[in-house]
Amino acid sequence: MSYVASRLAAVKPSASMAASQAAKALRATGVDVIDLGLGEPDFPTPPHVAEAAHAAALRGETLYTAAAGTPALRAAVADKFRRENGLDYGLDDIVVANGAKQIIFNALMATLNDGDEAILPAPYFVSYPEMVKLLGGVPVTPVCDAEHGFRLTPEVLEAAITPRTKWLFLNAPGNPSGAVYSAAEMRALGAVLAKHRQVLILSDEIYEHIIFDGREFVSFGKACPELRDRTLIVNGVAKAYAMTGWRVGYAAGPTPLIKAMNTVQSQSCTSVAAPMQAAALAALTGPQDCIPMFKAAFERRRDLVVAGIARIPGLTLLPPEGAFYAYIGCAGLIGRRTPKGDILTDDVAVANYLLAEGHVSSVPGSAYGLSPFFRISTATSDAVLTEAIARIGRAVAALSETR
Ligand SMILES: Cc1ncc(COP(=O)(O)O)c(C=O)c1O
Repeated sequence: MSYVASRLAAVKPSASMAASQAAKALRATGVDVIDLGLGEPDFPTPPHVAEAAHAAALRGETLYTAAAGTPALRAAVADKFRRENGLDYGLDDIVVANGAKQIIFNALMATLNDGDEAILPAPYFVSYPEMVKLLGGVPVTPVCDAEHGFRLTPEVLEAAITPRTKWLFLNAPGNPSGAVYSAAEMRALGAVLAKHRQVLILSDEIYEHIIFDGREFVSFGKACPELRDRTLIVNGVAKAYAMTGWRVGYAAGPTPLIKAMNTVQSQSCTSVAAPMQAAALAALTGPQDCIPMFKAAFERRRDLVVAGIARIPGLTLLPPEGAFYAYIGCAGLIGRRTPKGDILTDDVAVANYLLAEGHVSSVPGSAYGLSPFFRISTATSDAVLTEAIARIGRAVAALSETR
């Protein structure tokens, strides 16, 4: 007897969660492991946000809310899109869910028919292909290599579109690469999409505020207004306000799509917990000073990691333009021999070696659809990052050539 539905057979658990578990297991044996697997801001949630949740619960905001979210929170989200992105959405065009992840899940659940394709430019966020498969779709994962800044080009997009294409996912600043698209680059993609009217666009903008070198964030919705009736803008409070565990994401899109997503939500989780919605409301409407503070810290750590990796022969790193990861090329390590005599055959072997020998946990590029790379999260202190890079450097130096 099997407990598991056939639709789950091809779905993998989250690779970053798995890397974190492996790090925890090694740590439990007494080893001092640096876990750079999972990506969450290491800052505390701003106190006024936590207080807002507490006050809401004490006020009796403890009941179910509208599936789409409280009117007050949706109004705050609409205001955020107007203020920060220059986008005008009404309350019926906005939905709130338990994280950006649930927004994406609801969107796919609401729209995918069996065999529909979703284009996920690789390297992609690990959950995208698994959600697509879970909901009967087919992930199409065109390679967007380092040579092109890990960005999807109009030519690669055109080649990936078929009559079965239902979705194109864009994610900038991107996890894991940190790539950002300029408005002109988005418009060039928009010109291709304009010709293929069956394609919906999901723009995952969760890292919008973590963007470096003075770049200004431009929402896909702002760059390509002509595609508004096919675009779902996904965002949330997790990364901008250090609120990963509060689980509040939101989206804006065409009313019929939002309505369909609400139907999914009302029949699954009903709504986001009311006090968490009060917390998100406080985050979006309260003091915004944590945003530049987090950004400056992440940019400083990005610089630290870029400089550190540049000193390690065999590794390459295109400086991330945003987000808090480094997607490190390790082609120069493949085929080399570990002190125990094993050959590093791929990036899974590299990540395993870095954990076993360097005691640094990372996630292999195969999880993101582009090898050979490994991803480290830079959302930890400068001191820990410095130590992690020193350990990676020592582990790499201990490898010998086999050729
Ligand atoms: C690209 C991307 N989208 C969405 C999420 C999930 O966001 P949330 O915590 O709001 O579900 C993540 C989290 O790592 C992410 O990297």
